[in-house]
Amino acid sequence: MLLKDIDDLEIDEKCLKILKALARIYKAEGFVKISSAHVSGVSYDNIGEEGLEWLRSIKGKVRVYTTLNPAGLDCERWREMGISEDFYRKQLEVLRVFENLGVEITLTCTPYYIRAPKLNEHLAWAESSAVVYANSLLGARTNRESGISALASAIAGFTPYYGLHIKENRAPTILVKAKGDLSVVGYKAGLELPSEIPFFVFERKVRETELKLLSASIAATGNVAMFHAENLTPEWRDFERPREKIEIEGKLEKSCCEADLIAIGCPHCSKEELGEILKLLDGKRVKKELWIFTSRKVALEAKEVVEKIERCGARVFRDTCMVVSPATESFGCVMVNSGKALEYLPKKRKVEVAFASLEDCIRAAVS
Ligand code: F3S
Repeated sequence: MLLKDIDDLEIDEKCLKILKALARIYKAEGFVKISSAHVSGVSYDNIGEEGLEWLRSIKGKVRVYTTLNPAGLDCERWREMGISEDFYRKQLEVLRVFENLGVEITLTCTPYYIRAPKLNEHLAWAESSAVVYANSLLGARTNRESGISALASAIAGFTPYYGLHIKENRAPTILVKAKGDLSVVGYKAGLELPSEIPFFVFERKVRETELKLLSASIAATGNVAMFHAENLTPEWRDFERPREKIEIEGKLEKSCCEADLIAIGCPHCSKEELGEILKLLDGKRVKKELWIFTSRKVALEAKEVVEKIERCGARVFRDTCMVVSPATESFGCVMVNSGKALEYLPKKRKVEVAFASLEDCIRAAVS
């Protein structure tokens, strides 16, 4: 059931204003209750003093389960990352404000590994990679929220009803036959089809991890918020197959910079990916910096695997990532297996990037 009149509700005035403005812009017919929110804009490096002030000005507590994107550091091992004491203190202040608002300090871009939303659940999620994952792989319903609008919805408990909250707006618009590396497929698809809902047909069997990487890269280069994939995603049969068809090959020209950091975990690694990394390391000692990013929860669940990975000389950081942390800036060339990191690292961290498969990244780290 949609809420129509929200003026009399006791909700922070700023939050109400934001939601009403969005509803007006997108001509929403009302507001829909959400089961969870996911808030981005957490790293002090991104939001700065202004963002912190804005957060402090919000009154009340979140009304729904609300998770938080990565921060600018590993809350325990920030010194090891080369983070300054000053930055650490500022970041802690940001986290304290979120905590006081009732937000869970999850610090991950993979909130679906903490609590996976169900089919048709309405959400207000920021973090574009998680938005695409939730819409596409889980069949939950969310628009691409900003950190601010996601927090406003968390405080209110509802979000404007438009866009991907409405079933008929979730129909695929173009068929994409794809092969090769799916992170690269997503990277190219986002560039070529920035406002479409692709219907992917893959030539081979693909794994959840690959679809997660695709979710991140397609949202990084394009404005895409969901896709369907034949036989794989929950709503693929619900609509007519698009007639327009293109082909995308997931292959990139090798980039040539000599990596001094190999960074894996964009989006944050799952338990399965950590297991795969351990297998690829095969007990060998790393000879270059190998940084792996995951959530504190997943790291805890995969404690033994993480310890074994670290015994090889790699570092498994929690709470943060190679893009939102200023720590990456102390390197010259970063090797990644993520199309999203490939897009964002040069812009946000001013470093060169080399792209390779996970296998090649690990090979580069140990040789
Ligand atoms: Fe996550 Fe950071 Fe990548 S937030 S999706 S690991 S840029």
